[in-house]
Amino acid sequence: MTLADKIAKLKQEKNAVILAHNYQRPEVQDVADYIGDSIELSRKAMEEKEAEIIVFSAVDFMAESAAILNPDKKVLLPSLGARCPMAQMLTVDEIKRWRVLYPHVHLVLYVNTLASAKAYCDVCCSSANAVQVIGSLNAETVLFGPDRNLAEYVQRETGKTIIPIPEWGFCPTHLLFQPEDVHVLRAQHPEAVVMAHPECTFEMQKAADFIGSTSQMCRHARESDAKAFIVATEEGLLHRLRKDNPEKRFILAYEEAVCPNMKLNTLERLYMALKEEKHVVMVPEPIAKKARKALERMFELRS
Ligand code: 13P
Ligand code: SF4
Repeated sequence: MTLADKIAKLKQEKNAVILAHNYQRPEVQDVADYIGDSIELSRKAMEEKEAEIIVFSAVDFMAESAAILNPDKKVLLPSLGARCPMAQMLTVDEIKRWRVLYPHVHLVLYVNTLASAKAYCDVCCSSANAVQVIGSLNAETVLFGPDRNLAEYVQRETGKTIIPIPEWGFCPTHLLFQPEDVHVLRAQHPEAVVMAHPECTFEMQKAADFIGSTSQMCRHARESDAKAFIVATEEGLLHRLRKDNPEKRFILAYEEAVCPNMKLNTLERLYMALKEEKHVVMVPEPIAKKARKALERMFELRS
């Protein structure tokens, strides 16, 4: 029996479902019941009724959101070390400091934050809905964290003043992409469409034809007539893009764009997680209650 077969068997015995982020290893994506971007996975976890266990193959903040949105389920994170460094960049102390400086300004947090931080915000947003969520607020100035590049993207798209907190928050993986590489690739593949994640720098975004979340890139690739795409996001997405569009070509805009945290969830660890029902993601209810409100408000503003 292969590891994938053993996982399928265990999944059935334990009435579990596997949700995997678009950046997961190809072999993990291939055993998942559902693959998606951060917001799609949150919604899927929230709406899950049948399964008793949700194996959430991604990083800490995404699994936390699943546990917050569906507290009756056992949510498992295959690797305890799978922690998003960007989510660690905004602490509760930092939030409190900015709240004192701007007591009457809305605080919107990217879902790439820990539950303890989400508990202090008015509403959350993801890369897929940040423009719509912030655009729908009756406010011209908004505090937003922790991704500075996404903050600037939203500011450009909405015309609102977005104050990034902290001033320097970033994703180490998306920082690897540089417009110079894209210019070289464009010269080699003049027919290709360039897609970039809004966590990329402003210069990199300027070099792109399309900016969107990971699943929005999947949709764009599927619906576009183009036959080739240069992709500026974590390399895991290319597995899904190629599988969904076998007749199209996908070129990673920087060969070593890997999120090491996402890759900690190996197939072996996924198997062990199911077998031993670990690592259970727990969010203390007083924090979960406040964070849930911020996440639910996001779904209300932008479904
Ligand atoms: P998506 O919501 O686009 O999947 O992005 C999540 C993420 O962590 C990007 O680095
Ligand atoms: Fe966090 Fe960046 Fe990895 Fe996404 S790619 S999980 S933002 S470190």
